[in-house]
Amino acid sequence: MAKVPALLKWIGNKQRFAETIISYMPQQFNNYYEPFLGSGAVMAQLLYQSNTTGVPKFNHSYASDILPFLIDIFNIVKNDPNQIKDYYDKEIAEYYLNPTNKYNEIRDRFNNNHNALDFCLLSRTCYSGIIRFRKADGYMSTPKGPHRPINPETFSKRVDLWHDLITRSTFTTMSFDQCMDNAQPRDVIYCDPPYTHSQSIIYGAQTFNIENLFKKIAECKAKGAYVMLSINGTRESSKKDISITPPLGLFEREISINCGTSMIDRLQNAGETMKDEVVHDKLLLTW
Ligand SMILES: C[S@@+](CC[C@H](N)C(=O)[O-])C[C@H]1O[C@@H](n2cnc3c(N)ncnc32)[C@H](O)[C@@H]1O
Repeated sequence: MAKVPALLKWIGNKQRFAETIISYMPQQFNNYYEPFLGSGAVMAQLLYQSNTTGVPKFNHSYASDILPFLIDIFNIVKNDPNQIKDYYDKEIAEYYLNPTNKYNEIRDRFNNNHNALDFCLLSRTCYSGIIRFRKADGYMSTPKGPHRPINPETFSKRVDLWHDLITRSTFTTMSFDQCMDNAQPRDVIYCDPPYTHSQSIIYGAQTFNIENLFKKIAECKAKGAYVMLSINGTRESSKKDISITPPLGLFEREISINCGTSMIDRLQNAGETMKDEVVHDKLLLTW
């Protein structure tokens, strides 16, 4: 099955594992909820597979995240794709001429007004798609990446593809607990929260609390929804168990997914040479 190309560069995205994750969803369910949307890799792949093969079969997809300017990007792609294509076209042409100055200009502008169009540019140009906000004042502080951002034609094609995929999806800014309160029996909820031990400084995750997520998952399970949780597992080279322990009996199945290079090390060593380490993510299912 073809992989949907990424619209945003996003650390911790699940693009490479989306198909595997989707393969564990029921073949047929009611609505799909994704409360930690990030770059939307799993939802996009699910919509693509569902459109092309008819499986899984479901009614509506509801996507949400705590970052308003991230949700705004998806709503622009859905409702006014030319706006984001034109913006990228003009700004990236200037970026190619003077990357450092242009990056600082975009980042300053974003930090002043938190607009979605600049946030999209930042995700495409910042170091490794690491979206890091300073704890003290929320300033988006990631340095410029060394790579050449994708050209406007490629970006434009991706916007068109995503626009077609998400036309019937709903995007809302809210915390995971508000989102999960909406779920009903036979809905699927896929949770990919910030990794607790290292991601608390990225995204807007300072306030994220895994124990609250476990409580919400228990409520959704009791309602008859199917909850899937991605969580970091063991790191082979250090033999260190970096996993967290969920409450006993909350999950019925646990799947180990091989992630290849660890994105966590990439964050900690930004700018330095990286060692490849094998990380096995866990996928936990409530049914
Ligand atoms: C690991 S990322 C999700 C990556 C996504 N699966 C992908 O493929 O790109 C976690 C996301 O959770 C969001 N987040 C952090 N705290 C949250 C909260 N309390 N409620 C909802 N979303 C939150 C972050 O903004 C971030 O986008």
